[in-house]
Amino acid sequence: MRVGIIGGTGGMGKGFALRWSHDNDVIIGSRDATRAAESAANYTDLAKKAFGSINGSITGNDNLTVASDSDVLVLSIPYENIDSICSVILPEIKDSCVVVSPIVPMTKTDVGFECVSIKDNKPFSYQLVLQHMKDRSKLVSAFHVISEKKLANLSLTLDYDIFVCGDDMESVYTVNGLIDNIEGLRAIYLGPVELSYLAEMSTPLLLNAMIRNKMKNPGIKIV
Ligand SMILES: NC(=O)c1ccc[n+]([C@@H]2O[C@H](COP(=O)([O-])OP(=O)(O)OC[C@H]3O[C@@H](n4cnc5c(N)ncnc54)[C@H](OP(=O)(O)O)[C@@H]3O)[C@@H](O)[C@H]2O)c1
Repeated sequence: MRVGIIGGTGGMGKGFALRWSHDNDVIIGSRDATRAAESAANYTDLAKKAFGSINGSITGNDNLTVASDSDVLVLSIPYENIDSICSVILPEIKDSCVVVSPIVPMTKTDVGFECVSIKDNKPFSYQLVLQHMKDRSKLVSAFHVISEKKLANLSLTLDYDIFVCGDDMESVYTVNGLIDNIEGLRAIYLGPVELSYLAEMSTPLLLNAMIRNKMKNPGIKIV
């Protein structure tokens, strides 16, 4: 399976690429194909050092090429850039492509981390992405509650839950498979894509817990 990561040069993209390259062909997307290729080479070295060898691969290209080549496409980009990026790339994806949004509508204010969709009455991330989807059922929200620091540190043993929302269960199972592919992560299905706001709001919750209680990159585990 080819997993494309738009904005794959960022912190989350690095974590996804390192973890998934063990078994999947990962394509790093960037606005700059050269930067994507450099990140891909760097991540390949890191993954091979950590795993010994990898069954998949990590390559890089411009965001548009990555979008059209991917079987699963992760939108690992800032909330502020959803419209500018998705309006260009999402019309070009394969009909069968599953799109994953880990995007969090968050800002830091005087009181702490806040959800801009609540504070400033802005759309949630999934609502913005849906506007650009050819087939809205192929959007799956996931990965809001795992820190890039933990994902990218291959020496760490993970033990976290990942909230998943989506309408098409086949697409949800595809994303669950990628979650299961990362040892120590468990997929927790919340329901249809309209419930994605619950997952998106979990991140500022976690970050406030982190800064007020001196915790390091906390995650969520339901017991
Ligand atoms: N960081 C975390 O721990 C964490 C945890 C859960 C969820 N998330 C969510 O995951 C997503 C990715 O997080 P991240 O920390 O990896 O983000 P990031 O490092 O800030 O950005 C990811 C990539 O997006 C591209 N980008 C940045 N500014 C852009 C712009 N103005 N226009 C177009 N592309 C731009 C860049 O790639 P190029 O410059 O190469 O194009 C960048 O490397 C975010 O939506 C975040 O809310 C993050």
